[in-house]
Amino acid sequence: MMWVILTILFFSSVFADLSIDLPDGKVRGHEIQSQNGSIYAFQGIPYATPPLGNLRFQSPLPPQPWNDILEANQTRESCIELLPFTSQSEDCLYVNVYTPARQITESLPVLVWIYGGGLITGSGSYEQYGPDALVKEDIIVVTFNYRIALFGFLSTGDDAILGNAGLKDQLQLLKWVKSNIAYFGGDPDKVTISGQSAGGISVGVHVVNSKAAGLFRGAICQSGCSLTRLDITSQKDPRKVAYDLAKIVNPSVSDSNTTSEIKDLLQSVDVEVLRANMGTPTGVVLEPDVEGAYVTELSFTQLESGNFNRVPLILGFVSEESLAFQISFLPALMLQGLQYDTNVTQLLPSDFLPQENVSTKEVGNLIKEAYVGKDGYFFLNPAKVLQFASDNMFVRSILKQAEVQSNFTPVYLYQFSYYGTMSQSRPVIEGAGKVAHADELAYLFNTEKWLKTDADFLASKRFVRLWTNFAKTLNPTPDETDPVLNITWPQVTPANAQYIDIDDTLQIKSNIKAQESTMWDNVFYNYGRQPFTGF
Ligand SMILES: *[C@@H]1O[C@H](CO)[C@@H](O)[C@H](O)[C@H]1NC(C)=O
Ligand SMILES: *[C@@H]1O[C@H](CO)[C@@H](O)[C@H](O)[C@H]1NC(C)=O
Ligand SMILES: *[C@@H]1O[C@H](CO)[C@@H](O)[C@H](O)[C@H]1NC(C)=O
Ligand SMILES: *[C@@H]1O[C@H](CO)[C@@H](O)[C@H](O)[C@H]1NC(C)=O
Ligand SMILES: *[C@@H]1O[C@H](CO)[C@@H](O)[C@H](O)[C@H]1NC(C)=O
Ligand SMILES: *[C@@H]1O[C@H](CO)[C@@H](O)[C@H](O)[C@H]1NC(C)=O
Repeated sequence: MMWVILTILFFSSVFADLSIDLPDGKVRGHEIQSQNGSIYAFQGIPYATPPLGNLRFQSPLPPQPWNDILEANQTRESCIELLPFTSQSEDCLYVNVYTPARQITESLPVLVWIYGGGLITGSGSYEQYGPDALVKEDIIVVTFNYRIALFGFLSTGDDAILGNAGLKDQLQLLKWVKSNIAYFGGDPDKVTISGQSAGGISVGVHVVNSKAAGLFRGAICQSGCSLTRLDITSQKDPRKVAYDLAKIVNPSVSDSNTTSEIKDLLQSVDVEVLRANMGTPTGVVLEPDVEGAYVTELSFTQLESGNFNRVPLILGFVSEESLAFQISFLPALMLQGLQYDTNVTQLLPSDFLPQENVSTKEVGNLIKEAYVGKDGYFFLNPAKVLQFASDNMFVRSILKQAEVQSNFTPVYLYQFSYYGTMSQSRPVIEGAGKVAHADELAYLFNTEKWLKTDADFLASKRFVRLWTNFAKTLNPTPDETDPVLNITWPQVTPANAQYIDIDDTLQIKSNIKAQESTMWDNVFYNYGRQPFTGF
């Protein structure tokens, strides 16, 4: 009996009333009940000092300790988003920890979730990312808010405002997890980072960044990773953006004002003044290599040279990413197709820089040919317009990372093509895939809210099992005899992009988009300028 008590005290610091003594102060969690049983939740714990005043736009600082018990019973307002539809605050750097509803006597693996939303919207709220289904597989899940849009990504292009504050929030969160998660029963040496879309892109940033070394041992990139560059998530001329904003805030500002004056001005104005300018186009920037900088290297260069955090990786995409975007409306697809047919240079990726001697029309024709053939037309092939868009936004970069990274670490590639309740309300375009960007999230989070049929719940059970197996063992299919999965998911090799297709059944396939990938390689390597900023 004595031994049992000592073991419990040693391994877990959660008391009967769900209170925990963290290094920064005491918190009290609560139980969340759902149809399939309950979990424990510790929500709204500060992981950084509120980023206000002269901390606005800057790297986060560790949290300030507190004295009274913190009622960790609800997630906090989201950071300030592009649109004012949710409850938002500049004071938003809070973390939520979810554990199985029991006394934890061992150290559990931990999955940290980084939300997507183009780095302009989203939050770690329970309404958006209720992790019950994942936690019930006996892991700990961590969600949190990080700064987005203007507040997370404004930069002056120098050390006045370095930029990427939102990514630095994520880094601070990972440090917090490392030093706090044991108090919840988590194992600080078994942390997997995961995210979707801009969250996957964020995971990809940490994977290639030596300043994040040792903070995680596995990574999951859903529909976005280290090489994915969306126009919306990357910023080309940050200094001009900052000056333009300052000129709106104070019309006497000119280009001769220093960046330090711009910083002081923008830090001193009321939050509402900035909120009125939330359309300001911000995103990830390459920072000067000075103290406090985080993103100073190009991901492609890091990956190719093996100079990254060599952790096992799951990455993949849904069967038709572009279906979620405005072009998926049939007349819009045909119009877009017509534009591609009449001006093939519109097919060139925005992050593609042609070599000096290259004819962009020739490159455009190569791209066109891979989708509709030499004499074909996009106008008559709306499905091909969609496929081009899916590849151009997400798939190409993910297949390239799978290939390059498989030289150095275990890599598991997936396609999510299960056509369930989450996808069925959308019109089908003949010949295209049927699962749109972000549809797969409902099979991981808030499953009881979104899913309806037995087939949905089965797809979810398998999806959750693959992800939680990876968090536990770094192998998504460690047990051949598990009847839920009944499959072995093989790793990618540089020569074989084999993958698991997550559909009504699980199947191992290969050669996905082989012809298109050959074309993109030809385009980038033979016509593009190195170093590549993405792929
Ligand atoms: C959760 O509950 C629903 C509804 O009762 C059920 O259909 C489903 O199979 C359960 N899911 C799991 C993973 O147990
Ligand atoms: C959380 O606890 C605080 C303080 O006791 C209380 O005011 C609040 O209503 C609680 N919120 C929820 C959602 O239970
Ligand atoms: C901009 O520079 C001018 C000239 O040095 C100075 O008078 C003014 O105060 C500066 N504006 C701000 C907002 O710092
Ligand atoms: C073709 O598209 C490119 C890229 O969008 C654009 O710069 C160019 O002006 C267009 N050419 C014509 C003739 O419309
Ligand atoms: C462009 O020039 C480079 C070197 O100057 C050469 O390697 C490459 O083959 C040329 N590309 C084309 C398409 O002519
Ligand atoms: C597992 O898969 C094999 C085929 O790969 C099949 O023959 C077998 O019936 C499956 N077992 C279960 C329990 O579904």
